[in-house]
Amino acid sequence: MESSRGKWSSKAGFIIAASGSAVGLGNIWKYPYIAGENGGAAFTFVYLICIAVVGLPILLSEFVIGRKTQLSPVGAFEKLVPKTKWKFIGYLGVASAFVILSFYGVIGGWTIKYTYLAISTGFENLSGNPEAAGEVFNAFTTSTWNPLFWHLIFMSLTVWIIVNGIKGGIEKWSKIMMPMIVIILILLVVRGLTLPGGMKGVEFLFSPKFSELTPQSIVLALGHSFFTISLGMGTMITYGSYLGREQNLLKSGVIVIGVDTAIALLAGIAIFTAVFALGADPAGGPGLIFTVLPTIFPKIPGGHMWASLFFFVLFMAALTSAISMLEVVTAYFVDQKGWSRSKATLIFGGVITVVGGFSSLSLGGFSDITIFGMNFFAFLDGVSSKYMLPIGGLLIAVFIVYRWGLPKFLDEIMEGHTGHRPSAMVVKVIFIIAAAVVFFIIVNEIVQAITGSSIIG
Ligand code: TRP
Repeated sequence: MESSRGKWSSKAGFIIAASGSAVGLGNIWKYPYIAGENGGAAFTFVYLICIAVVGLPILLSEFVIGRKTQLSPVGAFEKLVPKTKWKFIGYLGVASAFVILSFYGVIGGWTIKYTYLAISTGFENLSGNPEAAGEVFNAFTTSTWNPLFWHLIFMSLTVWIIVNGIKGGIEKWSKIMMPMIVIILILLVVRGLTLPGGMKGVEFLFSPKFSELTPQSIVLALGHSFFTISLGMGTMITYGSYLGREQNLLKSGVIVIGVDTAIALLAGIAIFTAVFALGADPAGGPGLIFTVLPTIFPKIPGGHMWASLFFFVLFMAALTSAISMLEVVTAYFVDQKGWSRSKATLIFGGVITVVGGFSSLSLGGFSDITIFGMNFFAFLDGVSSKYMLPIGGLLIAVFIVYRWGLPKFLDEIMEGHTGHRPSAMVVKVIFIIAAAVVFFIIVNEIVQAITGSSIIG
């Protein structure tokens, strides 16, 4: 029976939507630049381990909690352990969604602006000139109205998809955009690999020099593995709540993680083959794709088209993730407050757009207003990815092992799963390792914030 909350239309529909949430700016913008700054392959190696050891258990926990209760995070914890404080995890999730979308949507706006620039100019004027590209980027992001305009467009699309619901909004658009992302990225990879000298980029990304493994890159890899699979704020609880009992959660989780990782690696290859072929700086930092790539594309045969496709992929990836954040907020008001989907989405999509507007302005006109020494944009980014998400994820793992109990977790995993029941002992050990690792990152961040130096160097 179809519930009034909505449901995915098929097993694949859920997997595509959850992959859409996972694949985002984290994969195409963040992973390549942090890998570039942290020794390439060495970083990639640790990142892959973290995804498997920490990512999978927490992802499955979120799926299980969502499907079991058929509710978004606050209601889900209230249903599993009524009248306890565990629903705090749900509130933290709604808050995290709010905070993250308030800066993510701003970058979403940039991706549309850059798609537009790529299509209209092909970045001809920036060819081989990083300074000019940097100036264009800075002038744009620190100006007042221009980024607000693109931000508004991005947020309007996000709101519009969510208003259209699970099947007709999230699933429908993920099914359109995800295949396009995969196909275009593969074309970009082929283009990159066939550039003279492009293979050097692949080597940079994949042949690990363990001497380059710094403790700091390990911490970064852990934090990133969280962000990239959308963990810790109940996105995957919410998406799981629209599932039927026949879904194989373990298999779905493995596929989502596989797709997410594959896309990050494809994006890395597409970018670094071009960067190395044209002798640009792989450690370009956060501006790598906005200030380095535009200087490279015009020098590549067909560069105008490739640049346009690249930024369009970035935009689609950002959009399929942004909708998953707004859905957490909408689902809370629908499930807990009985609001209609459109009312919840329009009101809170609107509020988030306004807060996002301030985070955009904090890069320019309002940059002297700081919180803990950071502008508002950096503050939202820092507080969510360093504290809110890891704390949410840690509490979810602790909840499963110590409060709800692994047997119940495994019962739910076994629904729709045809293989053997995993041993509770083994699963417990994995969860404890995952929780310990996350706990360590959080403590390290706190120590670093207070003393200015990290525990592990
Ligand atoms: N995973 C997305 C990315 O890589 C971002 C994202 C979407 C996210 N939903 C989330 C991150 C929930 C944390 C929590 O860009």
